[in-house]
Amino acid sequence: MELYDTATVLARVLVSGVIMSIEKSDRELPALERLLTKQTARTAAVLVNSRTAAIHAALAGQGFGYGDEVRLPGIDERTRAFVGWLGMGIGAQGPAAFDEISLSASNADELGTLARQSTAPALVVDLTELGFGPAAALLTDDPGCASRAERLKIFGSQDLRTMWTQQEAEPELVPGVQFNYRLSPLVAACVRMALTRAGRPAADHGPHVVTRSHRMITDFPTAPLAPPATAETTAELAAFGGSPMIPKALRRTVFPVITKEDLFGLLLAQRNAPEDVVGGFTEAYREYVGASHAIPTASGTSSLHLALVGAGIQPGDEVIVPAFTFIATAQAVVAAKAIPVFVDIDPRTYCMNPQAAEVAITERTRAIMPVHVHGLPADIPALRALCQRHGLALVEDASHAHSARIGDTVAGALGDTAGQSLMADKNFPVGGEGGMAFFASADAHHRAEDYLRRHGIDYRMSWIAAAFGASQLQRLPYYDMVRARNAELLGEALTETGFFQPPFVPSGHVHAYNMYRVTLVPSAIGVDDLPIHAVKSAVHELLVAEGVPAREWQNTPIPCHLPFKHRTGFGAGYPFSLNPRAVRDHRPEDFPATARMLESTLVLCRELRAPVEYERLMRYAQAFAKVARRPDAIRKLATDRTFPRPYETVARLG
Ligand SMILES: Cc1ncc(COP(=O)(O)O)c(C=O)c1O
Repeated sequence: MELYDTATVLARVLVSGVIMSIEKSDRELPALERLLTKQTARTAAVLVNSRTAAIHAALAGQGFGYGDEVRLPGIDERTRAFVGWLGMGIGAQGPAAFDEISLSASNADELGTLARQSTAPALVVDLTELGFGPAAALLTDDPGCASRAERLKIFGSQDLRTMWTQQEAEPELVPGVQFNYRLSPLVAACVRMALTRAGRPAADHGPHVVTRSHRMITDFPTAPLAPPATAETTAELAAFGGSPMIPKALRRTVFPVITKEDLFGLLLAQRNAPEDVVGGFTEAYREYVGASHAIPTASGTSSLHLALVGAGIQPGDEVIVPAFTFIATAQAVVAAKAIPVFVDIDPRTYCMNPQAAEVAITERTRAIMPVHVHGLPADIPALRALCQRHGLALVEDASHAHSARIGDTVAGALGDTAGQSLMADKNFPVGGEGGMAFFASADAHHRAEDYLRRHGIDYRMSWIAAAFGASQLQRLPYYDMVRARNAELLGEALTETGFFQPPFVPSGHVHAYNMYRVTLVPSAIGVDDLPIHAVKSAVHELLVAEGVPAREWQNTPIPCHLPFKHRTGFGAGYPFSLNPRAVRDHRPEDFPATARMLESTLVLCRELRAPVEYERLMRYAQAFAKVARRPDAIRKLATDRTFPRPYETVARLG
C-alpha cells in the first residue's frame, strides 16, 4: 500500500513556499535532520544526495579511509565496487561497519521499527525510493562520526556554522577529499513531507486546508525603489551618518524568479518516469550548449569529476588548475585520484594564465582545466594550442559560465570535456543542486558512463531539479540579456569614476556575469600611497554602509585551503602519495596575480541578475560614485584601522 501520494506531497511543499527562496531554505535540512533523529532515536543525522554518499559518509565518519579494511558482511556487488573505489578492503567477518535501511512509499512509516533493529555504529537510510530523486542520510550516536561525515561535503553544515570557513580543528577533522554531497532543500522538504504523511493514520490524510498566511510566500519585491536623485549622490556617506543609497528595508534581491510555468512543470513532471524527466532536460540543455554528449549529475563537483574521467585522467596524473577558483575545481581533480597543480591567473581576465600553465607542464601532466571565472571564458585559443602541442586534454570548469561564449561556441562545448554547476546561486539554477557534464566525443562520454557503472557511484540528478531546470531554461536567454544590459550600465558608470574598473572582456568573448568583479585603481583618486588592501577594505565598508552587498568571494589561493595543506585525500595521503613530485606547500605569494587581485578587487554576486530593477542598478552605480568622490574618507578609514590582507585571515569557501 502506498502511504502517501507523490503529487500531493509535491503540491504541499510548493504551496508552503520552499522553492520560493530556494537558496535560503536552510531550515529544510535541519528540519529533516530533526525528524530522522527523532524517528530513529539517534543523536545526529547527516543528509546527503545519494545512497553511495551516505555509505561514504558512514565509513569516513568512523575514520575509515584509503588502505583500511572494513567489515561489511553480506554486501551486494554494487556496494563492494563503491567501497573498493574508495580504496578500502572488505572483511566479511565480524560486526558490520554500518547497517542499511531503504525506505519507499510502502514502508515509510517503519523507520523507527527498522532503526531499532540496527546495532552498527552507523545507520545508512536510503531515501531514494520515496520518489523524489536520490537522497539518503547517515544516522549515528557518535558526534565525532557525524562531524567527520559533514566535512566530506563541500559546504556542509559545519561550513555554514563557521561562516564558510574551514578552520583548523582537531587534525582528524580537517577535510581530505570532499564531494558536493549536499541534499537539495527542495528534495529534503519533499522527503520530510512524505515521511510525515506516511507516519500519520490514513484518516488524517483528508483534504488539506491551506491556512492563509499574512506573509507573502512569493519573492515578489515588496516595494519599488526610486531612481537616485542628485542630492542623494552628493550627500554625506552612510558610514559617516548620511542616508544610505539603498535603504535597509529594500536591500533584499530576488533570485531565482519562480513562475507559474516552473510550478506547473514540476507538478506535471511527477506523472512521468523520473528518468524521462531527467533525460528530457539533459537533451534540451545539451542542445542549448551545443555539446555532443551530456551526463546529468547531482552537482557541479560530480560533473567535473566525470569530465575528468571522461578525458581519460588516471590516478596519479597531474591536472593543471588555476589557483583562483572555487575549491570544488581542485577537489574534483582529487576525486578523480589525480593531483591538482596550481598556477597563477592572468592579471586582467582573472582566468588561468596560459604562460603559467605551460611552465607547469611535466611528463605526468594529462589535462589543463581552466575555469571561466565569474562567467568570462578563459583564454581557450591559447590553452587549446598548448594542449595540442603537449598532447593534453582540455577540461572546462564552466560552473560560472552558463551561456558564456567565445564567438559562437558556448562554454561547455569549448573543451574536450566540461563540467558545470547548476546549483541555486548560479545564473541557471535547477531549484537546489545539480550539474551537467559535457563531452565532445562518444569515447569520452562512454568512459564516464562506464566509470560510474564499474565503481557503483550514484551521481544521479533528481527529477525535481530536472523539471525545474527544463522550465527555467526557456527564460535563460531573457535573463542573459538583462544581465548583459545591467553589466553594461554599471560598467559605464564605474568607468566614469576612474577609481573603479569594470571586468575586462577580451574581444570575441561573451561574459555571463555570474559575478561582477570590480577592480580598484587607487592612483585615480590619489590614495595609491596607501596599501592597496587597506584601501579596498575601507571602500568595502563604505559600500556596504550604502547598501551595496559587495563581497570578497575567495580570500586566499585555493592551495592555501586546509585540504591542500594537509593533503590527506581519500586517506593516508592518497592520491597525493602517487606522485610526490607534483605536490607543493604553497603560500599566497606564490601566485602574485591572484594575491594582487584578492587585495584590490570586490565582487557583486547576484546583484546584476534578473529581475534586478534598473533603479536599483542606478543606485549601486551612484553608491560607487559617491564613495569614489571621497578619497578623504577612504584615507581616514584606511589609516585609522589595521586591516589584514585577505589571505592573512582564515580561508573562506565563498
Ligand atoms: C568554479 C566552480 N566550480 C565548481 C563548483 C561546484 O559546483 P557545485 O557546488 O554545484 O558542486 C562551483 C560551485 O559554486 C564553482 O563556483
